[in-house]
Amino acid sequence: MNKKEFGDFQTPELLTREIVRLLEEYQIQPDIIIEPTCGIGNFIQSAYGHWQDKGEYFGFELNQEYCQQSAQKFAGISRISIEKQNFFTFDWESFLNRFTYQKILILGNPPWVTNSTLGMLESQNLPQKSNFQGNKGLAAKTGKANFDIAEWMIIRLLELLRDRTAYLAFLCKTSTARKSLFHFWKQGLNIGDSRLYLFDAKKYFNVTVDACLFVVDLSKKVHQKSAIVYSSLDCDRKNIYEFGFQNGEAIANLKNYEKYKYLDGLSCFQWRSGLKHDAAKVMELSVTEGNLTNGFGEKVDIEKTYLYPLLKSSDISKGRTNAKKYVIVTQKILGEDTRKIALDAPRTWSYLSQYASILDNRKSSIYQKKPQFSIFGIGEYSFAHWKIAISSLYKNLHFSLVPPACVISRDLSRHLKPTMLDDTCYFISFDSQQETEYWLSYLNSEECQGFLKSLIFFDAKRVVNIDILMRINFKVF
Ligand SMILES: C[S@@+](CC[C@H](N)C(=O)[O-])C[C@H]1O[C@@H](n2cnc3c(N)ncnc32)[C@H](O)[C@@H]1O
Repeated sequence: MNKKEFGDFQTPELLTREIVRLLEEYQIQPDIIIEPTCGIGNFIQSAYGHWQDKGEYFGFELNQEYCQQSAQKFAGISRISIEKQNFFTFDWESFLNRFTYQKILILGNPPWVTNSTLGMLESQNLPQKSNFQGNKGLAAKTGKANFDIAEWMIIRLLELLRDRTAYLAFLCKTSTARKSLFHFWKQGLNIGDSRLYLFDAKKYFNVTVDACLFVVDLSKKVHQKSAIVYSSLDCDRKNIYEFGFQNGEAIANLKNYEKYKYLDGLSCFQWRSGLKHDAAKVMELSVTEGNLTNGFGEKVDIEKTYLYPLLKSSDISKGRTNAKKYVIVTQKILGEDTRKIALDAPRTWSYLSQYASILDNRKSSIYQKKPQFSIFGIGEYSFAHWKIAISSLYKNLHFSLVPPACVISRDLSRHLKPTMLDDTCYFISFDSQQETEYWLSYLNSEECQGFLKSLIFFDAKRVVNIDILMRINFKVF
């Protein structure tokens, strides 16, 4: 079986034992212990080592070989049953209804794989939409671009266990735990006392991702929509922060948010994302030995008319603001007819035509039925000479001043032009340097940075997003 497709990382016993030890602190005395994707059964083994014959144990697993290994391991222990089951087709409702009056602990390590990876692998290891019909939240999720299948599993189990004397303890990405909680909080539902205990996923699974043991005590009624994050699984752990949901908004650090919430408002400047063209090798040019060169290493001889200096996310995150690259900007506004390039700049048109097969076959549907060589993320604002920009991808929240820069033409004359940003940057634009510097000092101030950090989840793919930037209130400065 393909390990990637089945999110297959078996949890070492050292870790399963530590987790069971941590669960002791909850003074849980479960009657029923379930591991829904049990693999070779290390969680069941550690749980049995602790609760022994006080509980009844059920392990389910899709992989036949793992089932056999587990079944052999626990042969002769009548309290442990291992079954081959597919999480997505198993009738969880009927199964759990057998234990209405018993304390249930569901623990384990659900598969670490996203639906888009499964899509690429043409895998069927996904929930059928119909399984979740009638369930608004989950049905809605089937249309979501990218999510972890662990998120599906966690939400499904929590929905079934709500209002029961039950506990869930799963190893997962911190983003998976958080998204599962937000799924309920957004609907106004509190599901119980929720905590995230961080652990070193590199050490145990050789993956570089923020990961945690996600524990929900559904038996404890709570009034706040929040979860505490602890630094580790061991006894020396510290409570590092608490995230939550307030007034319909996600807050990454509730304590810091309290301190800076006076900055929460509506930005009077419209934040924009940079230019999108999906053809870097053709559209982005650099200068090598005095010649413009494209991403194929070919010399490019075009007019300066449609050429602009370009800064990329990596430049902005490192505070580099003197553009070393150039980009061909084929339009001034969205959907503008591009045929005039043939008249204004015949060498540029001929260059673009040479690469028409690449530009015409860009995958994203946004380019369909648009003028040839179209770009996105373009408007009057792109041509302002002064900008403040931030990268959306890096943990560094530093804002940079983006000045205009020179574009050199064939006759070596220099033309000052506005600098463009790529589509992983966000920016606001201004007419004067003075105004840009004034607002830059505010955005990089301790208070504004503190406010942003209270809202940002640093484990997200796009650390900074436009919704967060639009919440910066400039009027308090
Ligand atoms: C991250 S591993 C964890 C295994 C085990 N729980 C542990 O902690 O050692 C995920 C397990 O989920 C199993 N799995 C993947 N998709 C499944 C499905 N649809 N139903 C049941 N098990 C599945 C894989 O075979 C794999 O053993």
